[in-house]
Amino acid sequence: MDVRAKLVADARHMLERLEKGTITPAPARTSRPSSIYTDEALFGREKERIFRKAPLMLAASCELRRAGDYKAMDVAGVPVLLVRGQDGTVRTFLNACTHRAAKLAHGCGHAARLTCPYHAWSFRLDGALLAVASRGVFGEVDAEESRLVSFPTTERAGLIWAVLDPDASPDFDAFLGGFDKLIAQFGFENWHHFESRSLPGANWKLAFDAHLEFYHLPVLHRATFGPGMSNLAEYFFHGPHQRLGLVTNAGHVLEQDDVASLATLPEGEWPATPLLFGEWIIFPNVSINCFYKGGRGVIISQVFPGASVGESVTVQMFLHENPPAEDLVADARAMSDFLGQVVGEEDLPMSRGQQEVLESGLLPRVQFGRNEGGVQHFHEWIDRFVEAPREATLAAVMGGE
Ligand SMILES: [Fe+2]
Repeated sequence: MDVRAKLVADARHMLERLEKGTITPAPARTSRPSSIYTDEALFGREKERIFRKAPLMLAASCELRRAGDYKAMDVAGVPVLLVRGQDGTVRTFLNACTHRAAKLAHGCGHAARLTCPYHAWSFRLDGALLAVASRGVFGEVDAEESRLVSFPTTERAGLIWAVLDPDASPDFDAFLGGFDKLIAQFGFENWHHFESRSLPGANWKLAFDAHLEFYHLPVLHRATFGPGMSNLAEYFFHGPHQRLGLVTNAGHVLEQDDVASLATLPEGEWPATPLLFGEWIIFPNVSINCFYKGGRGVIISQVFPGASVGESVTVQMFLHENPPAEDLVADARAMSDFLGQVVGEEDLPMSRGQQEVLESGLLPRVQFGRNEGGVQHFHEWIDRFVEAPREATLAAVMGGE
């Protein structure tokens, strides 16, 4: 794929939309049963057939910059430990000592080796068993059998993806279809992790739907984004992934970048940054939005299924192109607080209210408009994964397009 040609083509299309002030509508309004957000059995299939089959974008490379940096997290009920090894490679492990399943680490940190807090078995950063405490009295241990359980992992575009199935041999290229090469233009591998925060919400798809349309922006977010915000999203689909461009001529608080400024320049001179306009959606649960207050930055949101069908956790990860200078730290923190407020005090409380209504069982269906094509696209891909047989490979699910 010619990355620049693709980005230029998308920008050219976006400029046409901006000039006309219109979007490309989906072919039809659609509807789905409310049970997609409340059915426990479906929720179980989603965890199994999406969150253990699809590559998941779990971390930014800059969170694990040095050998020995680690990040422990819960991913749809799977305790996961990401570690950068001495060879510079990031590996993803089940966060479990192979002695008796104790979690090896919590949160983020740095370690020369991974030592279990229960009986002090220790492991190398590549997952190999290093030492068994009091080996003489414990007895023989099979080192190979006692390696950490390891998941297929790839690092690209300054982001880290893993498939939470130790036996999978996923085709990351086919899944990403070059979308990673577009995102790579941000250069995230050289960015800086400013902070992260976790926000509780309702069903994970309900929480993620709000990342996939702009229809609600001037309504739900009128107090934060302002009532003059455009509600028009132009969608750029890329396999299961997508990109949203805001069709507006007016500036707004999240001024992603000035794609409109390209109109006055010949295409050959279009600078790189405005070509990355919009919101980037990585299937199944990640969105990336740009901001420019307190320095150029992005908020990467990960929406994870929670403990039950009606619960999710949204992790907001703030990356900055440069560490904010001392006089900009307050602005940078204000930006994080602002986006925490938009999602934590507006979107997610809304989702909890919707969840209550849906769980009453008295509203049989929900609707998706022709202006919400991205939400329709997302749910079609969810269907494809969930309806595929449990044993279907990722390639088989992807190839059905
Ligand atoms: Fe929202």
